[in-house]
Amino acid sequence: MISTKIKTNKEKRRKGKRIITAALPYINNVPHLGHIVGSHLPADIFSRYCRSQGYETLFIGGTDENGSTSEIAAFELNIPLEEFSNRLFKEHKKIYDWLDISYDNFSRTSNKIHHETVKEFFKKIYEKGFIKKGKIKVFYSPKENMFLPDRYVKGECPKCGYKDANGDQCEKCTSLLDPLQLKNPVSSLSGGKLEIKEAEHLFLSLDKLSNNLKKWIESQSLWRDQVKGIAKGWIKEGLKPRCITRDLKHGVKVPLKGFEEKVLYVWFDAPIGYVSSTKEIRKDWEKFWKDKNSEIYNFLGKDNIPFHTIFWPGMIIARGDFNLPKNVVGLQYLNFEGKKFSKSKKVGIFCEKLPEIGLDSDMWRHYLTQIIPETSDSEFKWNDFQNRINSELIGNYSNYVNRVLNFVHSKFYDIIERPKKEDLKEEDLKLIEKITEKKKKIEGLLERAELRKAYSEILDLSSEGNKYINDTQPWVVLKENPSRAKNIFYTAIILLKALTILIAPYLPKTSKRVWNQISLKGSPLSSGIWEEIGKDLGEKHKIRKPEILFEKLTNEQIKKYREVSSQGTELKDFFKD
Ligand code: MF3
Ligand code: ZN
Repeated sequence: MISTKIKTNKEKRRKGKRIITAALPYINNVPHLGHIVGSHLPADIFSRYCRSQGYETLFIGGTDENGSTSEIAAFELNIPLEEFSNRLFKEHKKIYDWLDISYDNFSRTSNKIHHETVKEFFKKIYEKGFIKKGKIKVFYSPKENMFLPDRYVKGECPKCGYKDANGDQCEKCTSLLDPLQLKNPVSSLSGGKLEIKEAEHLFLSLDKLSNNLKKWIESQSLWRDQVKGIAKGWIKEGLKPRCITRDLKHGVKVPLKGFEEKVLYVWFDAPIGYVSSTKEIRKDWEKFWKDKNSEIYNFLGKDNIPFHTIFWPGMIIARGDFNLPKNVVGLQYLNFEGKKFSKSKKVGIFCEKLPEIGLDSDMWRHYLTQIIPETSDSEFKWNDFQNRINSELIGNYSNYVNRVLNFVHSKFYDIIERPKKEDLKEEDLKLIEKITEKKKKIEGLLERAELRKAYSEILDLSSEGNKYINDTQPWVVLKENPSRAKNIFYTAIILLKALTILIAPYLPKTSKRVWNQISLKGSPLSSGIWEEIGKDLGEKHKIRKPEILFEKLTNEQIKKYREVSSQGTELKDFFKD
């Protein structure tokens, strides 16, 4: 059959570069599962897939530390901002590491390199004539004796009536707001009444970028409908210049005379974090952001869609020398058993609790993958978690791994041998054909970041494997025709190898364990390994002694986990010692 050809690095590189980003989480709190399925996990699966395909991949992220959200959180705890952020950064990092989110760099927007990069960006856009001065009315709080930007103002959303809307955006209906549009505005620090005063600020001329943005948005073929819909809605409403300066202490100082006391709006600096995070680890970072053969993929939650389809691309178009994203993968919200995640109401699963539960992180990834809110809001349900792990991860995939390897171990002394072509039966050839067919289909889905569908195709291929074993009945065949039984397992192992590569972006730990049990060289996640899907294992191959991958989850376990994981650690308790 097909022989294995090792590709040189140069050949692999021909695939081009890919930058994958996950929205930079605010550092004002610790992530819950909604944040994980809403950006980090899908971005990770996609990044791992790109590496397997041989793209020169950089998966970029970091914490969003400027602006008022973290200032407010630190203020409320009476902890210096720096100390607050350092502690929470550690917690973020720990959680993503635990879940095997394979960031090539997880940086911070408080880093010096970020501030410098933002200033350069600002200057460039300013020189190009897309930043203008203007007077605006801003809220002044007599109680705190200060101007109150965005997030320090709360009130009723003018679009949907939500009572607790933030000054810059309504969380409920995702409308971007000007705090002056809020009904019954109050200070979010003291709840006190506000006065309106006039002050000079800087504006990004989105109005002048509207035509280019419109053309770009309309030409997108990969975007999901809801992402395009939100972007088009914005254009239709008419883009206005957007204020990009704030009266805050913390943040990137405005590098323009007369504005030195102000900082840049957090949504101006945060997306540039993708660039500075790349810069931090790569001397040749510019190639990733500017070269023709480099593609950018952004993963983000629903409320971030306007910023990644209008505001940030607008900044990119304004400066003129960076690539626009190839796909903006905007995800919807995750609910928990019919309710919104809420730490105070103990509704949800809080990630700092995951290690304590003691389950393999791949069990989480298996289930979470299937509730990635790709086309609509989705739901975490504990009984669904239990069912899908017991019946699919264990009953289907893990069962296939085990029965194949166990049979080879106990009946053939760990050895499989390549059959002669003419000894392969129709059902064997069919199975091998199926692999090629599925590989194509799965690739197509993954390229469009349809991660859930791709995963169910992978699980389906695993079912095909189980069916093949059931139908060929090797335990019966073995008695009369051992060499036929052996051939069945040679075919079954080709599928097992393919499955292990296909599933690796989703279950990185498990796939490595299985790879090891099959006794294959390297890793199922190495660059370019995708090409090995469908290829055989050589003339003669010896496997290792197989081991059980997972234990089924009992009702008692689930009861306990439900209890533990809903008790999110209160912010102040992160600072106890
Ligand atoms: N911190 C924002 C949020 O959590 C996301 C920032 S994404 C970036 O909603 F593009 F600005 F980085
Ligand atoms: Zn609203």
